[in-house]
Amino acid sequence: MTAPASPTPSKPLSQDELKAQVGRAALAYVARGEIVGVGTGSTVNKFIDALATIKDEIKGAVSSSVASTERLRALGISVFDSNEVEELSVYIDGADEIDHRGFMVKGGGAALTREKIVAAQSRKFVCIADASKLVEVLGAFPLPVEVIPMAARRVMRQFAAMGGIAQVREKDGLPLVTDNGQHIVDVTGLKITDPLAFESTVSQWPGVVTVGVFAHQKADVCLLGTSEGVKTME
Ligand code: 5RP
Repeated sequence: MTAPASPTPSKPLSQDELKAQVGRAALAYVARGEIVGVGTGSTVNKFIDALATIKDEIKGAVSSSVASTERLRALGISVFDSNEVEELSVYIDGADEIDHRGFMVKGGGAALTREKIVAAQSRKFVCIADASKLVEVLGAFPLPVEVIPMAARRVMRQFAAMGGIAQVREKDGLPLVTDNGQHIVDVTGLKITDPLAFESTVSQWPGVVTVGVFAHQKADVCLLGTSEGVKTME
């Protein structure tokens, strides 16, 4: 991916405005008459709102979470089960971190497993994010890993052996339960310099459902929201 050219200074936009900006920009990648893959999160919510303005021009969406499904349906967009659709031309989703090669950390919204599934069935991954998500090396954002609950402690020890500090994500004082009925372990203290190898290794640990490194399903295009406008990295 090529870094955006240096911008000319202008009035800073709020993070919410930056998200809305890239949400709207992503409409350019939606093939009219087709089904679009839709991710999860606050940036994607802006995209869903924008998608509603062209809902009569698309067949519908395959969604990566219960939350996105509810938002899509509330806005009158049909949602298809991923098994009903063989291939999608595009998947639009946010990221917690993205590097210059398009490798990402995802799963801050706990939807990483379904996100990876929909990304895998899509020909193009368009990442939408505000510019704060662009990093040199992945790992500053706590890495989400969806695990089968009985494997959580073992997986946490494996991360500790790599120098990471892992904890089970909680909601209202209890382990958070994902849309798939599993738990999330968040890992800090890692520098993920080889995302492809890291993803392959951790994915093989018993009890790991999905690791939040998206290297094998990386972004083909990234639309970065900045106060100077949307920068496209591809
Ligand atoms: C959800 C995700 C989101 O794409 C990621 O957390 C970014 O979210 P936001 O747009 O709210 O910053 O991976 O599982």
